[in-house]
Amino acid sequence: MRAAPRSEVPADEALARAHAFAASLSTRRSIRQFSDRPIPAGVLEEAVRAAGSAPSGANVQPWRFVVVTDPEVRRTLREAAEAEEREFYRRRISDEWRDALTPLGTDWRKPFLETAPGLIVVFEVHKGPTSPKPYYVKESVGIAVGFLLAALHQAGLASLTHTPSPMGFLNDILGRPREERGYVVIPVGYPAADAVVPVIDRKPLDEILVRR
Ligand SMILES: Cc1cc2nc3c(=O)[nH]c(=O)nc-3n(C[C@H](O)[C@H](O)[C@H](O)COP(=O)(O)O)c2cc1C
Repeated sequence: MRAAPRSEVPADEALARAHAFAASLSTRRSIRQFSDRPIPAGVLEEAVRAAGSAPSGANVQPWRFVVVTDPEVRRTLREAAEAEEREFYRRRISDEWRDALTPLGTDWRKPFLETAPGLIVVFEVHKGPTSPKPYYVKESVGIAVGFLLAALHQAGLASLTHTPSPMGFLNDILGRPREERGYVVIPVGYPAADAVVPVIDRKPLDEILVRR
């Protein structure tokens, strides 16, 4: 054991800081059209460092972040993802799910996997030859991805939370072992000049916050 880190925020600044952070996060949007503007060196690595500081069940840290910038690998990932997604949209998607996606304008095409200058492919790490049994894997990786998205946003980068289905092709193309299971693919970069986002609502605070 050692002394716990102390807060560096004076009490009279707490509300302003909390408000500023919430206001900054509220400007984050999922971007699906990226420009070819390069990502400044080192930013993806620092964002992964932020993600790796997340809490995790029994501190097992059951995550792996594969940073892909090679255009050839991005193209291969796009082709494989689109092959899966075409099947998904044609055969496996339920009517209810299709209705939920229609306003977002998403379909089987995934150009952002190739046009975004960076992809961060996140894997859950399960028990394997070099990894212990993890606890609360999905919860832990979800929190780490939240840190990651916030860190990218803080650095002025746009991202998308993309969940191809199924994700086995990620292991094949990226050469990851079986104990690693695809969790999410995060295209990262800057929005294209003509990028648009769907108009969406956020639930108001009094709907999501309950006091007891
Ligand atoms: C777990 C999860 C999976 C998602 N999967 C996809 C996806 O596969 N493709 C996509 O275009 N958007 C995907 N999204 C993005 C959501 O559609 C988006 O976050 C939501 O509509 C709210 O919009 P915003 O991120 O711009 O605030 C996903 C988001 C989450 C959290």
